Amino acid sequence: MFQKYINFIRGVSVNRAGRVGVILTTTIFITFINFEFAQTIGLVRNAYFGLITYLAFPMLFIVGLILIPIGWQKYKKQSGKSTSELLNQRFTDDYTQSKFIGSRLFRTIIYFTLINVVILGIAGLRMLHFMDSAEFCGTACHTVMNPEWVTYQRSPHARVKCVECHVGQGVDALIASKINGVRQMYLAALNIYNRPIPTPVHTLRPARETCEHCHWPEKFYGQRLVTRVKYTMDSLSTPTFTTLNIKIDAGGPGKENGAHWHVNPENKVVYTSVDDKRLEISLVKSIRSDGTVNEYHNERLATADGGDEEERIMDCVDCHNRATHIYKEAEDIVDELIRSTDIDRELPFVKREALAAISKSYNSNESANEEIANHIQNYYNRHFRHISIEKSEEINKVVEVLQDAYAAYRHHHMRIEWGTYSSHIGHKRDSGCFRCHNTNMKSEKGESIRHDCTMCHSILAMDSAEPYQFLKEAEKNAPDRKMHEYLNNEFFESTF
Ligand code: HEC
Ligand code: HEC
Ligand code: HEC
Ligand code: HEC
Ligand code: HEC
Repeated sequence: MFQKYINFIRGVSVNRAGRVGVILTTTIFITFINFEFAQTIGLVRNAYFGLITYLAFPMLFIVGLILIPIGWQKYKKQSGKSTSELLNQRFTDDYTQSKFIGSRLFRTIIYFTLINVVILGIAGLRMLHFMDSAEFCGTACHTVMNPEWVTYQRSPHARVKCVECHVGQGVDALIASKINGVRQMYLAALNIYNRPIPTPVHTLRPARETCEHCHWPEKFYGQRLVTRVKYTMDSLSTPTFTTLNIKIDAGGPGKENGAHWHVNPENKVVYTSVDDKRLEISLVKSIRSDGTVNEYHNERLATADGGDEEERIMDCVDCHNRATHIYKEAEDIVDELIRSTDIDRELPFVKREALAAISKSYNSNESANEEIANHIQNYYNRHFRHISIEKSEEINKVVEVLQDAYAAYRHHHMRIEWGTYSSHIGHKRDSGCFRCHNTNMKSEKGESIRHDCTMCHSILAMDSAEPYQFLKEAEKNAPDRKMHEYLNNEFFESTF
């Protein structure tokens, strides 16, 4: 068998082009098998390796295949002989006896062609599969996608493929995404892509289709207890607690409506916004299962004419826009680092100084590294000389974790700053839930959409010394006694 292969190869290696073709196809084939093996057993997980295996190799293989007939044509032209004469010359008799069709040579050619088609088919399928992997999406275009890749890897969805959220189902969506991919490669090559990459992503796969693959509204019941710890800016960096019992129920008979009421299949919420980022809502409408429709207009925008006035049905991404690419705020990062003891709270004013160091405007990630170190070290050297010597290790650790956090959330080459991508969960800086739930949203009758503080969450502590402050009995003479009692009752009376 091997000898026959060698004979055939010798036969077609008529000149330089033919020989290069044969060498190319054979070596590519052998290396492809080895690379594929290395990737299958998990030896390498790297996008460039994948790019070589599934893009460069098949292309070179095809070039090799094309070179063989080109070489033959040239050979024929130079010799001036007919094909059958040449065949007789190049191949032993057992190959060329009888007519060409039906001859052993013909069968061998068919045989090799079939093998090549199978090889290319497998390579093509593997290539499509590879292009669906998170490694490819996140690292092939390294500088452009790095921020999304970094935040993705730290998210609860780090095991969900990019395409599961970003590419719809079916062949249409697959083709559209590949065409879009080519466009993006072209923009990246010419260095003319948007920085930062704009959101909302209008081509995002419909959230109900994606998210409900793994989560679904019938499953959202009850409430969710969260405690946020913040540290004060004084010398002691004292912890304070905010505890919320967030109402996340999708609602229904006998239950209090919570955040997932909007995505309960029984209800529908549609809205229009005046800006492309869906931040300024001009109109919002709720349609309930019993047919009641409530409509609210934004008074403040009443005279302004609308921009992006297309109606949108509210879905998961209108609140969970940062389910995966979570860009934390500088203060939250510092608080978390103190909580996890990576930042030593015994260093005086450490919360204030760490926050100042990380939130300044630097020119590049490199200069940030240098200046964060300078800021922290100089501060303790100058104001607390003895501590800077005694606790030099702890101070170095502060510098190190701040540099890491800065690199994860600030990306100068993509112009991603603190707050570039804000989250819609909650209501920081009047966005999030308050885009609709605010006093400017009025119905025809002049009633505003509900926005009382305990509609979405019970408040069990707010910047308090204890995590469950308001669950305790209020002190008789405390100035906040009334509020304390109100919040206490509200929590115990809410229907789960
Ligand atoms: C669990 C779902 C999910 C996964 C998995 C996911 N994304 Fe996203 N992605 C989103 C959502 C949601 C948005 C924001 C959409 C919006 O606001 O319109 C987004 C936005 C983006 C953006 C726009 C910039 C931004 O941050 O808003 C890019 C680029 C992006 N994703 C790339 C990726 C890449 C690359 C991967 C894989 C490494 C990935 N995504 C994985 C859901 C996902
Ligand atoms: C392939 C399955 C899958 C898909 C698709 C998916 N998720 Fe998740 N999601 C998960 C898993 C698993 C977790 C829990 C991870 C954990 O507990 O660490 C999770 C966690 C979450 C959480 C809770 C995070 C937290 O703080 O506890 C939210 C919110 C969330 N997903 C929203 C979404 C949204 C919005 C989408 C669509 C854009 C989506 N998910 C798509 C599997 C998925
Ligand atoms: C009106 C805003 C809103 C919409 C729309 C919304 N969510 Fe949520 N979701 C929330 C809030 C608020 C929380 C609690 C956040 C927290 O814990 O910090 C939450 C929590 C979650 C959690 C964690 C639940 C748990 O038990 O810990 C998941 C998973 C989730 N949402 C998925 C989804 C999916 C999937 C959709 C779309 C079908 C969706 N959400 C639509 C506001 C929303
Ligand atoms: C795009 C607009 C919009 C956004 C953003 C929005 N909501 Fe709503 N929400 C509505 C509308 C409309 C209603 C129904 C009001 C009515 O019918 O009177 C509603 C009702 C609710 C209700 C139920 C009230 C009831 O009828 O019992 C809760 C709870 C709620 N929202 C919580 C949230 C939370 C939490 C967020 C942010 C995570 C949020 N909403 C963001 C539009 C919005
Ligand atoms: C439309 C729903 C809604 C209304 C109305 C609302 N909140 Fe919230 N609030 C939320 C959600 C959702 C979060 C986010 C929870 C999270 O971060 O996981 C939040 C977060 C908070 C936080 C924690 C912020 C932090 O630092 O993490 C505080 C404090 C708070 N709310 C207080 C209030 C007060 C006071 C009011 C009344 C003026 C109010 N909320 C009204 C939905 C609401």
